[in-house]
Amino acid sequence: MPVAQDIWNSRLEQIGFIDDPVDLTLDLYEEIEILKKKKNAILLAHYYQEPAIQDVADFIGDSLGLSRQAAATSADIIVFAGVHFMAETAKILSPEKKVLLPDLNAGCSLADTCPADEFQVFCDQHPDHLVMSYINCSAAVKARSDIICTSTNAEHLLRMIPESQPVIFAPDRNLGRWLERKTGRKLKIWDGVCIVHETFSERKLLALKVEFPAARVLAHPECEEAVLLHADFVGSTSAIRRFAREDTGDSFIIATEEGILHQMRKDSPGKHFIPAPPESGCNCSQCPHMRLNTLEKLYTCMHHELPEIRMEESIRKRALKPIERMIEMSEGVS
Ligand code: 13P
Ligand code: SF4
Repeated sequence: MPVAQDIWNSRLEQIGFIDDPVDLTLDLYEEIEILKKKKNAILLAHYYQEPAIQDVADFIGDSLGLSRQAAATSADIIVFAGVHFMAETAKILSPEKKVLLPDLNAGCSLADTCPADEFQVFCDQHPDHLVMSYINCSAAVKARSDIICTSTNAEHLLRMIPESQPVIFAPDRNLGRWLERKTGRKLKIWDGVCIVHETFSERKLLALKVEFPAARVLAHPECEEAVLLHADFVGSTSAIRRFAREDTGDSFIIATEEGILHQMRKDSPGKHFIPAPPESGCNCSQCPHMRLNTLEKLYTCMHHELPEIRMEESIRKRALKPIERMIEMSEGVS
């Protein structure tokens, strides 16, 4: 965690904000709506948020859609119901705005696999390589990158880079390998992985396919290759949602965080969605970081306008360039 953010955390503890109890008699939906209007705040939520948060959001989307919204909004405050790197990206794009994250501990296991100092050494060892980083990384890693991508635009952007140009891809090894298979191109891949997507079980997926033979398997490219090989469609959260909405099939096995099912069920109430199970544990596929955000924390954060995302300006400026490059080069991609 950057130093500026560390100081901010201890400040929150000093003022007792973290323990502020919520009045249980409040209608939090109504209170959040009132706060949005009063403070000219926009509430952006990722598909992996719990349904109650999605239902009160102004915009629900994938990492790319959320970044575009953060860059374009005229609100004074961006309340980010997602994880730290997403709120950080919003701050990089809109430094003049106050960006709030309901729980500062909502990190990302994948981003954590790529410490900026180690990444710097890795990149320096391959000075002729262009550095393409998945948006699930810290601002400091973005600052060392030439271009950022999301799962929605990664293939599109990679195909725009001349074949003769060697490319480093970080931090997700599964997305990197999936891009290699899609484009036939060899990448130098950082060995990072997401704890949610790596745990989907091929064995249990095959058992589900036997139980529901007509179901199509839709998977996020962060899943292991063994799972992706059984998928009828591989894509980002928004692409998975669109596929299920437009496809004529009526049952789908979904290999990504199960929060996405909320919008899919709203889109297609008659269709049957089955979450792909992990190999062990509680049999759910929830991201423990995303799920740190709750309606109560959302309300408290909007009320106090805390915790706020802070970062060093020099890092922000360097991280901005590759994000802007991504947005420009993927105009029209969704
Ligand atoms: P999307 O780009 O599909 O939103 O994925 C974000 C993410 O964190 C996947 O784990
Ligand atoms: Fe990070 Fe994985 Fe959670 Fe996505 S699902 S935010 S990659 S830990």
